[in-house]
Amino acid sequence: MKHKIRLGVNVDHVATLRQVRGGTTPYPDLGKMVKASIKGGAEQITIHLREDRRHIQLHDLKKLSKECSVPLNLEMAATSQMVAYAKKYRPDWCCFVPEKRAELTTEGGLDVKKGFKKISPMVDKLQRIGIEISMFIEPSIEQVEASYEVGADAVELHTGKWVMLKGARKQKEWKRLVEAAEWANYLGLNVHAGHGLDYEHSRLINKLPHLQEVNIGHSLICYALEEGLEQSVRKMRKILK
Ligand code: PXP
Repeated sequence: MKHKIRLGVNVDHVATLRQVRGGTTPYPDLGKMVKASIKGGAEQITIHLREDRRHIQLHDLKKLSKECSVPLNLEMAATSQMVAYAKKYRPDWCCFVPEKRAELTTEGGLDVKKGFKKISPMVDKLQRIGIEISMFIEPSIEQVEASYEVGADAVELHTGKWVMLKGARKQKEWKRLVEAAEWANYLGLNVHAGHGLDYEHSRLINKLPHLQEVNIGHSLICYALEEGLEQSVRKMRKILK
């Protein structure tokens, strides 16, 4: 029987909406949205504490590390500051991601091969205290091998490019994802995937061999608005006599 794919819900964009007003509004309540995600079937909560703090704040990490009832996955840049936060707040997983200040979202995977010397001791430090480690990488054999050599427990394959492409180029990118997943599994790495997954592409990603986990954020928060605005307008309409 095929195993069930673990669903990690990335709640960064709940915090994006809160931070649009400088974090001064009591809504949207991140804790409430985390609980709703878990009620809906999320088996993991994922957050990215970015250097520019555009969405998730340090107090969110602090609160969720205490209160989240499912495993917490912290996406983080490979910096000593982030390693210190991870050591302090002890998420269940740390996913190393590249981070550029001006990017709209995480564009491209981490170059584990190039950053090997820097990343390797960080992986070791975090694994020693029981945190599992994944590397968010492009679906390339070279990066899968570097992730294995750096001692990671898992690779999270970047699906963003595949989602955006069309036709033959999409097929080619899918082939890269399949090959990377096969090779990662052969090396004993867990296979995770994420970025840009919506309802349509989540149906297709089911077919990725050895896939154990997906992390989905932006589409889910957008669907929550599309599927929930009618109800909140109705409530406001009732309040306004
Ligand atoms: N996985 C990683 C490593 C990411 O950086 C992101 C974006 O924060 C996601 C998954 C989720 O991507 P999306 O918000 O497009 O679903």
